[in-house]
Amino acid sequence: MKSINDLGDLQGKRVLIRCDFNVPLDGETITDDGRIRAALPTLKQLTEAGAKVVVMAHLGRPKGEVNPKYSLAPAAKRLGELIDAKVTLAGDVVGPAATEAVAGLADGEILLLENVRYEPAEESKVDAEREALAAKYAAFGDVFVSDGFGVVHRKQASVYDVAKLLPNAAGHLVAKEVDVLKKLTETPERPYVVVLGGAKVADKLSVIDNLLKVADTLIIGGGMGYTFLKANGLEIGTSLVDDTKIDVVKEYMEQATAAGKQLLIPTDAVVSPAFPSGDGPFEKTVVAADAIPADQMGLDVGPATAAAYAEAILGAKTVFWNGPMGVFEVADFADGTKAVAQALADTGAFTVVGGGDSAAAVRTLGFADDAFGHISTGGGASLEYLEGKTLPGLDVLEGN
Ligand code: 3PG
Ligand code: MG
Repeated sequence: MKSINDLGDLQGKRVLIRCDFNVPLDGETITDDGRIRAALPTLKQLTEAGAKVVVMAHLGRPKGEVNPKYSLAPAAKRLGELIDAKVTLAGDVVGPAATEAVAGLADGEILLLENVRYEPAEESKVDAEREALAAKYAAFGDVFVSDGFGVVHRKQASVYDVAKLLPNAAGHLVAKEVDVLKKLTETPERPYVVVLGGAKVADKLSVIDNLLKVADTLIIGGGMGYTFLKANGLEIGTSLVDDTKIDVVKEYMEQATAAGKQLLIPTDAVVSPAFPSGDGPFEKTVVAADAIPADQMGLDVGPATAAAYAEAILGAKTVFWNGPMGVFEVADFADGTKAVAQALADTGAFTVVGGGDSAAAVRTLGFADDAFGHISTGGGASLEYLEGKTLPGLDVLEGN
């Protein structure tokens, strides 16, 4: 990939850039601006070089319709606060308002186009439709910079097709993310421990398959952990389970043993009669993994499990973590996730937190970004990279 430093003198040039400003919102309030902050190094360099910067980004999934609920207005406002440059939001994506705003941009200014997913062609499966929209984007720039790492796994007009139409380069965020993930797949310092949590086993199965080949220890927690317990023949009460995946999970466990890998699953759990809703405190009991009552559900890993996981993390040289260990949003069930985050902060290993939800989790739990080696801005993108898949938004860049 080329870097923005290879694009030559950008003074007065129009730089079209894809960013990922898909931030969590509470109404119009951004609850975690990590993705906007992560875009600053590239945006600052471009404005300081005197470029006219046109930013493409999406928010949520408006499915091809203009919907104020998904406006990028909060992102434009936040970016304006974080960067020492004039930031304006266009009234549309590629319509008359955007066209006029691009024409009026001064050197060193930033124009954010409205949510690219207001355009039905942005996510079209028909190549010609995406290409026609990409041509309109390309008319707004002299060069294209790809810096929305969180969307590089999407074959979409503003991520993929537009890159074919202009001289292009990867921004600093994309370059840094790829650098880290490449290291994890090719030359991780050992022992390499991978911690996977979250609710959906199905989503993580293909990454487990690939990670079993490179990691030394695989740690499983969160809602998906109960499918592993059930695959081991244990009763899991009313805990979350994906019964369609029991056989595959069994296979993975056998594969791991045969390959001499360590696969750690919970040995105890924090259980409760129901999923927490409303205000706590909630009824909870710690039980051994083989003693989960029939009428209770596991909502967090227990203290013995958390201690064992922390020990493995403390002894590692490389750690990748994706997905919480329990219902961390509720204080009563956050201890397992906190213990894992604390171990990541304390270990001497190179640590990577992958995924929008995990990144938001560590910040919500009060950890500083610099407690970790790298916090990836990409959830799906970083997992697909670790799965060994080809990511369209990277593959399309010059020099790749
Ligand atoms: C994300 O939040 O994971 C990225 O911004 C991609 O969004 P998407 O999953 O809606 O394509
Ligand atoms: Mg997402």
